[in-house]
Amino acid sequence: MFLHEVINNIKLIANDKKLKNTSLAWMNHSASYKYTYNFCWLSSPIIQYPQDIVAMQEIIWAVKPDLIIETGIAHGGSLILSASMLALLDMADAIEAGQSMNPAQSNRKVMGIDIDIRAHNREAIEAHPMFSRIDMIEGSSIAPEVIDQVNKVAANHERILVCLDAMHTHDHVLAELEAYAPLVNPGSYCVVFDTIIDNMPAEMFPDRPWGPGNNPKTAVHQYLKTHPEFEIDKQIEHKLLISVAPDGYLKRIR
Ligand SMILES: C[S@@+](CC[C@H](N)C(=O)[O-])C[C@H]1O[C@@H](n2cnc3c(N)ncnc32)[C@H](O)[C@@H]1O
Repeated sequence: MFLHEVINNIKLIANDKKLKNTSLAWMNHSASYKYTYNFCWLSSPIIQYPQDIVAMQEIIWAVKPDLIIETGIAHGGSLILSASMLALLDMADAIEAGQSMNPAQSNRKVMGIDIDIRAHNREAIEAHPMFSRIDMIEGSSIAPEVIDQVNKVAANHERILVCLDAMHTHDHVLAELEAYAPLVNPGSYCVVFDTIIDNMPAEMFPDRPWGPGNNPKTAVHQYLKTHPEFEIDKQIEHKLLISVAPDGYLKRIR
């Protein structure tokens, strides 16, 4: 009953253009204050809107991945979010099996890639209680040697989720999609962040190589032309309203 009501509400939201426009106007206004810098996950700064953080929690709990591959580490908040969700999945498994949880025995891992892992960020991530589930690679996410390293790790995992949040140009994200999306299992997701750039005014990115027309959303649309195994999960952005990833929640359907 409750679930039916929620599904119906989301359908109504999807058709409410005024609410969508108000949400985008709110995002554009809040972005001028770097609103996404305001939040932490388990005390680690995470550069996301809270709505997308909740969506990631729902996805990770539903998919139950044993490997999460993330491009773009920054301060490490999104890695800590993923690692903490994997810890909860391990805890749920242990409860179900009537055993105690032993992180050292877990095969669940987060692999983060960043071209520039600053010393203070690395130190904070390595000191975090969730660090046992995290591996980091420093290098460009589209460098062949980095992709090779990720593929080798992926070969030891069965259920993979990918999040792309590094360099936001069309060419870079398209290359990331070609490299990492094939690792995603049917039923799992490749989440492409900052597709919202396409919906924002060009003046908001004066000193960036990306902007409307050249960003993660244009890369997603190009990728989907030749990859029918993925579809955009529109329900997620309809219910979030506030999201940096419109058209970016890609579900592998086969
Ligand atoms: C938006 S931040 C990531 C935020 C992080 N995912 C979070 O939610 O807190 C983008 C990161 O991408 C990294 N980056 C930029 N170009 C890159 C590249 N070519 N390969 C890998 N990482 C890159 C930057 O160093 C920066 O730390």
